[in-house]
Amino acid sequence: MKKIKRREFLNNTCPRVAMAILGVSFLNACSKESEEVIMPEGDSGYAVNGKIIEIDLSHPTFDLLANQGWMNFTAQKILLLKTESSYLAFNNLCPHQGARDAWSYSPSESIFVCGRHNNSYPTDCVSEGTNSGPLQCYSVNKIGNTLTVTKS
Ligand code: FES
Repeated sequence: MKKIKRREFLNNTCPRVAMAILGVSFLNACSKESEEVIMPEGDSGYAVNGKIIEIDLSHPTFDLLANQGWMNFTAQKILLLKTESSYLAFNNLCPHQGARDAWSYSPSESIFVCGRHNNSYPTDCVSEGTNSGPLQCYSVNKIGNTLTVTKS
């Protein structure tokens, strides 16, 4: 009998056959596999694990955040904002009509402006914009140079 490794078996065996043989434990094995950290191609300065994005703030990808104080992190559809004391993260989906790529930031007013129809949105996670609801906030946690954003 040919010996094969467990992972090889799971990867190569039809899931229905494996479920019939292994039952629920196979489903558990699959779900654990899907929870593995997904690293983007190359060294992009961030890693994704489901709804959690770990950002290396010292990576050149995030120079814009350090230099101008905010950036539209389009690869993960997140607006990132650096304040005097912390970082904030928002869904980059404009509450008006869903544009994701027309943002600018006004530091004097602490608002993001969507250039698609020039509506503005406060960064307090509560106040409505000039047209439609507030920006959707995500929770953030910073330890050292790692910023962890949890999408809700
Ligand atoms: S889509 Fe953003 S202001 Fe209209």
